[in-house]
Amino acid sequence: MGNNLLKGKRGIIFGALDENSIAWKTAEKVFEEGGTFVLTNAPIAMRMGKINELAAKCGAEIIPADATSVKDLENLISQSVKILGGKLDFILHSIGMSPNVRKGRDYGDLNYEWMLKSLDVSGISFHKVMQVAEKQDAVNEWGSIMALSYIAAQRTYPGYSDMAQAKSVLESIARSYGSRYGKLKNVRVNTISQSPTPTTAGSGVGGFDVFLDFAEKMSPLGNATAEECANYIVIMFSDYTRKVTMQNLMHDGGFSTSGITDDLVETLTPGN
Ligand SMILES: NC(=O)c1ccc[n+]([C@@H]2O[C@H](COP(=O)([O-])OP(=O)(O)OC[C@H]3O[C@@H](n4cnc5c(N)ncnc54)[C@H](O)[C@@H]3O)[C@@H](O)[C@H]2O)c1
Repeated sequence: MGNNLLKGKRGIIFGALDENSIAWKTAEKVFEEGGTFVLTNAPIAMRMGKINELAAKCGAEIIPADATSVKDLENLISQSVKILGGKLDFILHSIGMSPNVRKGRDYGDLNYEWMLKSLDVSGISFHKVMQVAEKQDAVNEWGSIMALSYIAAQRTYPGYSDMAQAKSVLESIARSYGSRYGKLKNVRVNTISQSPTPTTAGSGVGGFDVFLDFAEKMSPLGNATAEECANYIVIMFSDYTRKVTMQNLMHDGGFSTSGITDDLVETLTPGN
């Protein structure tokens, strides 16, 4: 049972691939809280057909869009406003993909065409979404736009490869567009930097199980789950966070400010 935190609010949710996706959990929570939305994903991801289950459950329509295509985004946003019966109050960008990571290319042997693709899909697409939304004047005053990031934007994680650069771009776009959209329309723009989470995108990163375990031991509250992330996103879409903007919000159980923890000391103590 929700608390109607998003009653009357309309939006678009990008990136629900399967029931593990952060966007999937978010759609369920937003629905529970009274929000209505359009679901979207890349046409290629639709072929798996899973998103139809989520749409049926949430009474949502699905509009395919490749988030790197301005044309697709123009269609998505204008259609969504029509379908939902008014301008948008929230947008979730929950998109990440690196061909270099996917194909196991070493960081010293990157394919630069693929690197540009990683930056476009995982970073620049966030700018494209907002630029199209602004041009169509599709977002209501005090709307909230969110994207998902990872701490590899600030610190190195070898297996994360060029996704680290993509996340830095993403966080920077949130600040720059947040400044612009705030002044223009009182729209806020933030990223949530989420703990490692077992999803399709997460598990594709080399050594994922090890750093899931490391992060768990390094976080006094433990890793944040996809469902907990969805709850945070709901609050960020609600009217309780109207003056939070241009932030990269750490949602990581305390990982980012821990030097070492008792759990890690115990694990690393010789003889244990
Ligand atoms: N899983 C983690 O450990 C973790 C940690 C921090 C941040 N994140 C971020 O969370 C977000 C969601 O990922 P997830 O973990 O839920 O994994 P996921 O694999 O379920 O979601 C990634 C989504 O991106 C979509 N996508 C890829 N290319 C696209 C394109 N061109 N156009 C539109 N959509 C496209 C995929 O179809 C998929 O639905 C990503 O930004 C990811 O980087 C994940």
